[in-house]
Formats: sequence, structure tokens, C-alpha cells
Amino acid sequence: MKVLAIIGSPRRKGNTYQVVEEVKSKILNYDRNIDFQYLFLKDHHIMMCTGCFVCIAQGEDKCPLKDDCKLIADKMRDAQGIIFAAPTYAMGVPGLMKNFIDRFAYTCHRPAFFDKTIMAVSTVGGVKGVKQTLEQLSILAGGGRLAYKLGVSSPPIPMGVSERKAKRDIEKASKAFYLSLIRREKKLPGPADWAWFHSFKTLCGYKSYQRVCPADHSYYNEKAEYFYPVEGHPLRRLLGKAFKTIMKLSFGFMIDPDDRQ
Ligand SMILES: Cc1cc2nc3c(=O)[nH]c(=O)nc-3n(C[C@H](O)[C@H](O)[C@H](O)COP(=O)(O)O)c2cc1C
Repeated sequence: MKVLAIIGSPRRKGNTYQVVEEVKSKILNYDRNIDFQYLFLKDHHIMMCTGCFVCIAQGEDKCPLKDDCKLIADKMRDAQGIIFAAPTYAMGVPGLMKNFIDRFAYTCHRPAFFDKTIMAVSTVGGVKGVKQTLEQLSILAGGGRLAYKLGVSSPPIPMGVSERKAKRDIEKASKAFYLSLIRREKKLPGPADWAWFHSFKTLCGYKSYQRVCPADHSYYNEKAEYFYPVEGHPLRRLLGKAFKTIMKLSFGFMIDPDDRQ
């Protein structure tokens, strides 16, 4: 099994790397055979998103920027577990990581990582901003199983932060990540997931949307009830059907009926 840790700190071996090192040692304690690899965004050529919208509308393979993003996406696809780690800068991710998130924005339309276990890790000076950073990092989960959001206080100035608490949190996060990794179960959709799927699926039923976003259209056209077959309780299926109706009605009020496929 392969785990890829993507480090988005401008400091190669700073606090964020140190915390991920601890996570690595816990995970390897569970299973020595896990192939744990690092990828430092700082060492890669990642151009700034220019906002052309081509990745979202036409497909990520049509992005005009030629840099390391494709190589990184391939490495992500090749791993079973991915850790996205970044420090908190001014209440959010640093620019290095923000640009990386922007370059993967198409996964907000067409999620791709259903079979991956994901963890978001951030280190922070005080406590302020870590929640926002973890939320931003979670965007990268792209439909995967978000096993844990780990925030660790590691201030540049000594502030009497409890090391015991940090160790406990790291232990808990590593265990949750490892268990999700070996269970390999796809995430069962909750209300937000159904809403996401049926919003896009419904939108793709409109001719004007298909013209603007053909990549979304071909992606959702192949999927009937959800991103992947959903097993389980009939109530869950009922919830899916309810969201389908809600989205059809809501978009029906907003969009000209002549625009339907
Ligand atoms: C430019 C900059 C902005 C920061 N902004 C915050 C912040 O908003 N909140 C906070 O609690 N800590 C903040 N910090 C502290 C870092 O989050 C903290 O030291 C982190 O552990 C650094 O991780 P690194 O060594 O991996 O870069 C900031 C540090 C820098 C350099």
C-alpha cells in the first residue's frame, strides 16, 4: 500500500513536515510494509492558475499550463492514501498550497479520488486559523474518504502549548487514517454529497450548461444515481431520490424549460 504525503510549506523540513514525520512513524508501526513517500510542492514546478476555466469546462487534460501538475496527479492516483499538509498562514493555507488547490479545482466539479483515504494536516502558531486551513485542504479530498483533519499547535515562539495533547491528537489521527486505509470502503453519501451529485447531474441536463461545460456533461452522463453504486439501507436510497427531485424542481424554476435536453 502506498501513502503519499504532499507538503505545502515553504519551509521544507519545518513544523508541518515534523508532524507528518510523527504520523509516518505511527503508520509504519501499524504496518512496516506501507510505502510512505513525500512530495514537496516547493520542489516542483507548479505554475499559477490563470483562471482560463479550461480544466473545468473542457477537461483537466486540456489545461494549457505545462508543468508538474500532471505528474503530481499521476502520483496521487497511484497512492491508496494521501496526506495534504500545510502550515496556517494568515488564517489559511500558504500561497504555495493555495495555487495547488486552484490547479485541482476541477475535482470540485468532477471528483476523482473515491478509492483514496485522505488526511488533512496543518500546524499553526496559536489556535487561530487552523480550522480554515483544514477546510481548505479538505477541498483536495475530491470525493475520497476524509479520515481525519489534524491541527497541531507548534508556535515559533514558546507559548506553553501542551505537547501531550499534540501527541494524543497525532496518535488518534494516525489510527483513523490507517484503519480507513485498510478498510478501503467507499464513503457512504450524506446529504451534502447527494446535493453535490444531483446539482451537477441536473445542470448537465440543460443544453446551455452542456455547451459551456462539455467535460461535466460527459462525466455525469455516464452516472445514474450517484458517483458510484451505493449499497446499504433503503432510507439512504430514498434520500438520494429526494435530492434528485429537489434539485430538478429548484433548477426547473430557474432555467428556461426550452433549455432542457
Ligand atoms: C507568514 C506567516 C503567517 C502565519 N500566520 C499564522 C496565523 O494566521 N495563525 C497562526 O496561529 N499562526 C500563524 N503562523 C505560524 C505558523 O502557522 C506556524 O509556525 C507553523 O507551524 C509553521 O509551519 P512550517 O514550519 O511548516 O512552515 C504564521 C507564520 C508565518 C511565517
